[in-house]
Amino acid sequence: MTVTNNSGGGQPVSMQNMKQVKMLCEKYNTLLVLDCCRIAENSWFIKHREKGYERKTYYQIAQEMFRYADAAVMSAKKDGLVNMGGFLTLKDQKLAEECQNLLIITEGFTTYGGLSGRDMEALAVGLEEVFDKDYLQYRIRSTAFLGEHLDKIGIPVLKPFGGHAIYVDAKRMYEHIPPHEFPGQALVCDLYVYGGIRAVEIGSLMFGKTLKGKFVPAHWELVRLAIPRRVYTQSHVEYIVEVFEEVKKQVKKSKGFKILYEPPFLRRFTCKLQRL
Ligand SMILES: Cc1ncc(COP(=O)(O)O)c(C=O)c1O
Repeated sequence: MTVTNNSGGGQPVSMQNMKQVKMLCEKYNTLLVLDCCRIAENSWFIKHREKGYERKTYYQIAQEMFRYADAAVMSAKKDGLVNMGGFLTLKDQKLAEECQNLLIITEGFTTYGGLSGRDMEALAVGLEEVFDKDYLQYRIRSTAFLGEHLDKIGIPVLKPFGGHAIYVDAKRMYEHIPPHEFPGQALVCDLYVYGGIRAVEIGSLMFGKTLKGKFVPAHWELVRLAIPRRVYTQSHVEYIVEVFEEVKKQVKKSKGFKILYEPPFLRRFTCKLQRL
């Protein structure tokens, strides 16, 4: 279970949802692994949207969610508030020992797991600070600020806004580019060419398939504008909005892509594209 939902608009996962998944996993005797990389942001949404959690702290909400999981992985670049690092944690001691042994022969001894001491200290502090209510309020609000301003200038954004990113509906913005020519990728490249802004396509380049010679598009053609934590000021965000205004003026002239090369798996990371 990934909290929040990174490929589905950055939407939160409710505690009710987590409990139901836990019940399902128990029924089928399956480990429930939490990808907790945005657990603090997810806790913010639960406190403000889910009945019964209004009086709990963000920290308590996260603790409850961890209780339903058998294991958790975290890419700490997200809610660990650090540049690098992460962890795997397991309740089952035997499984944990097996992972520790693997860790020693691959990444490093269990006390550091391939991370430098400095990074681990920063992570320990980051995991505390990320639950600060003022920090979380600012984080969620500043993401929404971008969403609201893009919405105001007529960019089709997914609503309600997620915590870590704003998702643009590229199918609506680039109506003239069919899914097999990757409208999301057209927006990603336009943003970079006009304004040096990096985004990621979450659409048919990422999830589309060719089955028996026939193209099967993804359900959505989204572009994710993920916002690094504690990096940007309001004027940076205003700059993004200005770049979108420029991109919007030229949108009809923009063309799609064809794939020149794709690897057998995870093509989105290393494929080569050519503009049509
Ligand atoms: C939900 C989620 N899990 C895991 C990862 C992987 O992170 P890393 O690149 O640190 O391995 C990401 C990266 O974006 C993510 O969004």
